[in-house]
Amino acid sequence: MNLKLKIWRQKNSNDKGKIVDYAISDIEPDMSFLEMLDVLNDELINKGETPVAFDHDCREGICGSCSLFINGRAHGPDTGIATCQLHMRKFKDGDTIYIEPFRARAFPVIKDLAVDRSAFDRIQHAGGYVSVNTSGNTQDANNIPIPKENADTAFDSATCIGCGACVAACKNSSARLFVSAKVSQMALLPQGQIEAKTRVLNMTEQMDKEGFGNCSNTGACEVECPKGISLENIARQIREYAKATTATKK
Ligand code: SF4
Ligand code: FES
Repeated sequence: MNLKLKIWRQKNSNDKGKIVDYAISDIEPDMSFLEMLDVLNDELINKGETPVAFDHDCREGICGSCSLFINGRAHGPDTGIATCQLHMRKFKDGDTIYIEPFRARAFPVIKDLAVDRSAFDRIQHAGGYVSVNTSGNTQDANNIPIPKENADTAFDSATCIGCGACVAACKNSSARLFVSAKVSQMALLPQGQIEAKTRVLNMTEQMDKEGFGNCSNTGACEVECPKGISLENIARQIREYAKATTATKK
C-alpha cells in the first residue's frame, strides 16, 4: 500500500505545532498501525530527520499508552481496540491518513503525538485503591462471598486501561467514563466499601481540579472506548457521589 500521512508535529509543549505531510510506500496490509509508524521513523532517521514521537508499550491492548487520534477518531476507524491493535488492512491503497495526538486541556502535548496523561495518575492517587492490612492477618479474599453478577460487573469496569480515548472523544473533554470505571470496580465489591465515600468524593474533586469538562451526555466516550466501558458506570458514580455527600468528607 502507498499512503499519504498528515501528522501533527510539535517540538515541545510551547511550540505551536502543525500538520506535516509524509508519503510512505510498500506498507503491508497486515502490518499494525504502529509498525507503519516505525517504518516511517526508520526512513526519517535514515534521512537525518527527527522521528515522530508517539507513546506505546505493550502493543497488545493492555497498557493504555498508545493513544492516537486517527482520521478524527480516538484509536482510529476500528472499534473495541486500542491504536496498537489497529491494522493497515483497515485502510485502502492511496488513502490519506490524519494522525493527531489526543486533544484535551488536561492532556498537554509533550512532543508530536505524545501527550501528558499524568492527570489520570493523580486521580487514581486520590482514591483509586483499597487499603489492605498487610500485617500477616489479612483475610483470604476467597473467604468473602461476592454475588457473581457483582464480580462480573466489577471485572468489566476494571478492564479500563486508562488510555484517555473517552476524554479525546468527548466534546467537553470529560473524564467521567474513566473515573466512573475506577469508582465502580471498587464500589461493587465488599473490599471497596470501607473507603467508598472518600474515594468517590476525592476522585471526583481531583477530576475537576485537573481541568476535565463535565459529562456531555452524548455517549461518544462509550463508542470510542477500546474496552467497551459502559455508561452505566457513570450512573453508578453519580449514585455513589450522591450517597457520599450525605456523609462527612475526610
Ligand atoms: S474508560 Fe475506556 S476510553 Fe476511557 S480510559 Fe478507560 S479504557 Fe480508555
Ligand atoms: S501499546 Fe499498550 S495498549 Fe497499545
